Amino acid sequence: MDTQAIKQRFGITGHDPYLERAIHVAVQVAPTDLTVLITGESGTGKEVFPKIVHQSSARKHGPYIAVNCGAIPEGTIDSELFGHEKGSFTGAHEARKGYFEVVDGGTIFLDEVAELPLSTQVRLLRVLETGEFLKVGSSKVIKTDVRVVAATNVNIPEAIDKGKFRQDLFYRLNTVPILIPPLRERKQDILILFKRFALDFAEKYRMPPLQLTEEAALMMENFRWPGNIRQLKNVTEQISIIEKTKTVTAEVLERYLPRENSVSLPVLYNRDKEEDRFSERDLLYKVLFDMKKDIIELKKTVAGLAQNEIESTQPAPQARPLVKNFIPDFEQSVDSFGNIEIESDDEEFLGFQPSEVIDENLSLEKKEIDMIRRALSKHMGKRKNAAKELGISERTLYRKIKEYNIDQ
Ligand SMILES: Nc1ncnc2c1ncn2[C@@H]1O[C@H](COP(=O)(O)OP(=O)(O)OP(=O)(O)O)[C@@H](O)[C@H]1O
Ligand SMILES: [Mg+2]
Repeated sequence: MDTQAIKQRFGITGHDPYLERAIHVAVQVAPTDLTVLITGESGTGKEVFPKIVHQSSARKHGPYIAVNCGAIPEGTIDSELFGHEKGSFTGAHEARKGYFEVVDGGTIFLDEVAELPLSTQVRLLRVLETGEFLKVGSSKVIKTDVRVVAATNVNIPEAIDKGKFRQDLFYRLNTVPILIPPLRERKQDILILFKRFALDFAEKYRMPPLQLTEEAALMMENFRWPGNIRQLKNVTEQISIIEKTKTVTAEVLERYLPRENSVSLPVLYNRDKEEDRFSERDLLYKVLFDMKKDIIELKKTVAGLAQNEIESTQPAPQARPLVKNFIPDFEQSVDSFGNIEIESDDEEFLGFQPSEVIDENLSLEKKEIDMIRRALSKHMGKRKNAAKELGISERTLYRKIKEYNIDQ
């Protein structure tokens, strides 16, 4: 079956070349018994791939089971997957067959495979390598013929580094890797998907489909979609239900897109508190941008102060320490008349007009105080955490609190 037919059959929308490549690989690998590992951020559409593999394989008439490894308690997962003997643990009143026995001749989809406890990972590796396993509490080897397709939104190499995932199992599972790209990397599919969901929900709720204004469409395309297609689908459904007017403007759309995630930045897929990581990263960028801006502003400020000093008959004594303390990359010297000369190859610095100095200096200070206050209140007065968030040392923060007389 070609990619187009697969997309139609499995309800996959989009023309992104990486998505099409992923479908192509799934179809090509299906007739073999190779293990497939599907990776991609949460909500990218991984769940349909094991079905494509199973349905395009000779096992399609055999059993298919999807197991959410993250949803099964650690204490029972071995028994669920491999079964147990009667009396093998408290409460095991009956012997039970595990999925690997039941699915003999078919396909098991191990969703959220990175959530498996390490001890279960050992058992899984064994069954993948030998086709054999032991029930919990039994020493009788059982043979099975199961095709495994696994999926994860965890960055497994990182999990290996943290000792949470076995490297040997990763290599074994990853025989055929399929990577599903995040939505922000297939921008051309965003509006196509929106249209499809808008039509689906229009039908479901018996109403005309949503339309986007040009501005809203642009906003949608440039949103970072941390929750990927799942989030796009949810947003479309929410707007379909809540908004009376079916033409969605940028103002309306904005209400449905979480603000802090609206910047388009590249991120690695990772499931650990994904939202936290996004905002942390965004914050980090913000701090860096702010710092750069502050340095440029400070340079201007200093240049202005120095200029004032040059022009004025009254020397401004505070200009000198400012120059020394804050700007390491230009030189100052005092000429024989007591004037300060500044050398810099920074054009922005030299072209600066001193009249802007005072305002900028004040706003800079205000901004700094504001950021410190916000960081302190966010961390409930904990200076260590606030300093960390601001990207400065605890000592610097302490000094600034004193200097600006910031009450906590
Ligand atoms: N290409 C697509 N076309 C249409 N719908 C899609 C597409 N990709 C994903 N979806 C829909 O988006 C939703 C999320 O997809 P899915 O459940 O497969 O995500 P996932 O990658 O398994 O995420 P998680 O890692 O959180 O489990 C589903 O409702 C799915 O039907
Ligand atoms: Mg899933």
